[in-house]
Amino acid sequence: MRTPIIAGNWKMNNTIAATKALVTELIPLVKDAKAEVVICTPYTDLATAVELTKGTNIKVGAENVHWAEKGAFTGEISADMLLELGVTYVIIGHSERRQYFGETDQTVNARVKAALAKGLKPIICVGETLEEREGGKVEEVLVRQTTEAFKDIAEDALENIVVAYEPVWAIGTGKTATAEVANDTIKIIRDTLARLYSAKSAEEKVRIQYGGSMNPKNVKELMAMPEIDGGLIGGASLKAVDFSLVVSY
Ligand code: 13P
Repeated sequence: MRTPIIAGNWKMNNTIAATKALVTELIPLVKDAKAEVVICTPYTDLATAVELTKGTNIKVGAENVHWAEKGAFTGEISADMLLELGVTYVIIGHSERRQYFGETDQTVNARVKAALAKGLKPIICVGETLEEREGGKVEEVLVRQTTEAFKDIAEDALENIVVAYEPVWAIGTGKTATAEVANDTIKIIRDTLARLYSAKSAEEKVRIQYGGSMNPKNVKELMAMPEIDGGLIGGASLKAVDFSLVVSY
């Protein structure tokens, strides 16, 4: 019912030359992927990635977007700028932005609204820290992050939104949430959306990915879980063979 979606998040990796090499290697390897395939690249690689993936099953996403239409925001990038490049998706609220760059639930919401208003599809990241998990705060944190991110977002926009559940303690650590933990936690997010909108929309429209050390070895077990609709892949998306094994799980 919900089409699986697996996205690479390259983070701050790959020059244009490296992008050419990686995407060229990736195209034939992922052509029969079981999921919708997305690569989210640094801004400087977007034009190259879009050009090379034309006519293929790979869509391109950015890693952030500013909420203002334009203006005095030195160093920022607007939704129009991304759309002009042919970008389809945009990651919003990644834990690294929340941790190192002052991203808040409110700025996440502002970015989501700006992206949707222009026709970009947000991949909204939520997830608890280790401290929050050990302190029994998982539900509280995810309900808050989800509710704030979706504030003033209309129900008919839901089909254009992807949520990525990324437990901070599993990112880049090699520690994956067990499939059961990931599934149960994603259920909290879906139940929150059901309360905010309707059970039907939460069930049918919103795809929720798992992210955090997802790789060729654990992808099958994670993707077999009923609540997990895909993955947001960091490290393993930087190697063509690994990423192709993930998307063909
Ligand atoms: P890793 O797959 O490297 O753990 O990164 C996950 C992530 O942060 C994707 O956004």
